[in-house]
Amino acid sequence: MRKNIVAGNWKMNKNLQEGIALAKELNEALAADKPNCDVVICTPFIHLASVTPIVDSAVIGVGAENCADKVSGAYTGEVSAEMVASTGAQYVILGHSERRSYYGETVEILEEKVKLALANNLTPIFCIGEVLEERQAEKQNEVVAAQLASVFTLSAEDFGKIILAYEPVWAIGTGLTATPEQAQDIHAYIRSLIAEKYGNEVADNCSILYGGSCKPSNVKELFAKPDVDGGLIGGAALKVADFKGIIDAFK
Ligand code: PGA
Repeated sequence: MRKNIVAGNWKMNKNLQEGIALAKELNEALAADKPNCDVVICTPFIHLASVTPIVDSAVIGVGAENCADKVSGAYTGEVSAEMVASTGAQYVILGHSERRSYYGETVEILEEKVKLALANNLTPIFCIGEVLEERQAEKQNEVVAAQLASVFTLSAEDFGKIILAYEPVWAIGTGLTATPEQAQDIHAYIRSLIAEKYGNEVADNCSILYGGSCKPSNVKELFAKPDVDGGLIGGAALKVADFKGIIDAFK
């Protein structure tokens, strides 16, 4: 059966020393009180090589927030999937709405990134979700279906390796959260698309996380929904008490 997962997305926060301190504190908190779900922290590139050796890999997975859509070479400023993997990281967030909107990441670019991540044994946490106007026009299902094109070219075996995150853009960092019913409805729809494409077994095994203003006080109800398999956590991942409060929703 699919896994429950709580993944943190640090975004562009914490310098190296602060990031190391945060990872150490989280590692200690989870060593003292074992989680009942998989826990992942996705950090800026510069933290990866320092953070992977200080967390217990049996309890905390480490991931990047992006990787290049090219293998290697003259791409100044880019970081490849192979480089990410060489730090000991095991995950990579791809298709986050901030990457799509501020850095022009298209369905085609993301298809390349997903393939390169998988080729380097990284688990993509692939994000999809609609903006407010699309939700208001009741187009959210169409939007997520179109975004899934980046991963629906994968073989069933490769699709089985990815994690999905549904993040309504209007809920990211805004304090507005989708209601548990809204999340359940669209997660069930996403799972139905996977079933149509790859069959029921692949669909049942795919973890679909919810992201957007998750906090300890609202995740219990969200995670209780049958098709919500955990969360992708931004702001609340930057404080151990909040992040652990979210992880503890699975207890
Ligand atoms: P948030 O961000 O929890 O701060 O809303 C979630 C995300 O962007 O992954």
